[in-house]
Amino acid sequence: MVPFPGKPFLDVTDQMVRQGYNVTRMFRVAEEFFTSLGLKEMPTEFWEKSMLVKPADREVVCHASAWDFYNRKDFRIKQCTTVTMEQLFTVHHEMGHIQYYLQYKDQPVDYRHGANPGFHEAIGDVMSLSVSTPKHLREINLLDSLTYDNGNNQIPSH
Ligand SMILES: *[C@@H]1O[C@H](CO)[C@@H](O)[C@H](O)[C@H]1NC(C)=O
Ligand SMILES: [Zn+2]
Repeated sequence: MVPFPGKPFLDVTDQMVRQGYNVTRMFRVAEEFFTSLGLKEMPTEFWEKSMLVKPADREVVCHASAWDFYNRKDFRIKQCTTVTMEQLFTVHHEMGHIQYYLQYKDQPVDYRHGANPGFHEAIGDVMSLSVSTPKHLREINLLDSLTYDNGNNQIPSH
């Protein structure tokens, strides 16, 4: 399953920690990516009511999920987020669900679903795939330099 055996994996977790990333910042970075493409901001309720870190006072199911409360304004993510690259991609995935909810929130309730569940899973992953490229990670200052197989540290033109 490893596409390029022998090549190092990219992991910008250390860089995130070094730059003082916290959970809020991870969600803001994801939101910024969506809005940079002309998509929607997360509504106020999202920031007020989501569970973005694991609570200290109770047991919760930590598997990340995104919720539509079907009142056209209350949308939340539940995620026990920690500061890692993998979790940053998960944030994009979950926010993709919220984005889809926001896009169809004014439809009659019968139409407030994905065309099929695969569409829902794909929205955030489309973002994650773009975010996880070395080019973009460098763009958002999480990657200082990298060496390409052409032997230098320039982004090859294509
Ligand atoms: C998270 O980081 C941002 C800056 O990126 C800062 O404004 C905010 O206060 C931090 N939040 C917490 C809870 O530390
Ligand atoms: Zn999902």
